[in-house]
Amino acid sequence: MPAQPVLPVHERVVRTLGAAETRALGARLAAAARPGDLLCLVGDLGAGKTQLAKGFAQGLGITDIVSSPTFVLMTEYAGRIPMFHLDLYRLDDAADALAGGLIDERQLEGVALVEWAERLGEALPVARLDVVIDGTADEPRAITLRTADPAYLRYLEAGA
Ligand SMILES: Nc1ncnc2c1ncn2[C@@H]1O[C@H](COP(=O)(O)OP(=O)(O)OP(=O)(O)O)[C@@H](O)[C@H]1O
Ligand SMILES: [Mg+2]
Repeated sequence: MPAQPVLPVHERVVRTLGAAETRALGARLAAAARPGDLLCLVGDLGAGKTQLAKGFAQGLGITDIVSSPTFVLMTEYAGRIPMFHLDLYRLDDAADALAGGLIDERQLEGVALVEWAERLGEALPVARLDVVIDGTADEPRAITLRTADPAYLRYLEAGA
């Protein structure tokens, strides 16, 4: 069997000192957002995924307070384009969530930010931006913007 072609992966690392800088990165990324985009926020508990989502929302012109949607799975906000904020931490079975339409067609109208997206494993599409946050507590964060989809390279530019 022929080997699967390996897509080149592009990445850029941004370092932040403090939550405000992570929110500012989120706001810069929001400038690149288009309907249908998927951003996967990956990092330990307290890494700063929700902080980044807050800044992203500000960048979309959303004035609502963005908090962790842990208990509702998904919160929708109205901005320049809709923002769907998901948190899969409490998901027992990612397959069930997909079957239940957790990531559904409505989201094509906006940009989806998914905390703990790695729980979906192989079910994640290649067309996505991974935002991998390394560090917790008072440590500086190393935030890696990573994609294998050329259409998402605009986020690497926006994050600079
Ligand atoms: N450079 C930084 N970037 C982001 N957050 C930082 C930074 N430095 C300190 N913090 C603090 O770390 C915490 C990050 O919390 P946040 O809720 O964003 O994490 P999370 O990754 O969403 O966690 P969870 O997995 O529980 O949802 C905040 O209290 C924030 O003030
Ligand atoms: Mg969170």
